[in-house]
Amino acid sequence: MPRIVYVQPDGARDECDVEAGINLMQAAAVHAIEGIVGECGGNCMCATCHVYVDPHQIDLLPARSEAEDALLDGVAAERRANSRLACQINMQPALDGLIVRLPDRQI
Ligand code: FES
Repeated sequence: MPRIVYVQPDGARDECDVEAGINLMQAAAVHAIEGIVGECGGNCMCATCHVYVDPHQIDLLPARSEAEDALLDGVAAERRANSRLACQINMQPALDGLIVRLPDRQI
């Protein structure tokens, strides 16, 4: 099972082994990770699942869709070059060890 590392703003880390195919927002909910709201349930409509992907791993991910890119303009915390929406990233074996940092706020 691929592993995701969630890093809280204070540096606390949670390492979660997850089923392939689950997205990063769902995985956070399953593992009770704080800091991801996921208000719209993963339908790319709310931007409350904002994460910062480790800059060294950002190229492993598929490009943002137009909808994701537009929603990222409305995130509560600072948008950065490595900003993504957790519900739009499906885990797969090639992403094993993916590190995502949580912003200090989602709303
Ligand atoms: S959960 Fe709403 S955009 Fe990701």
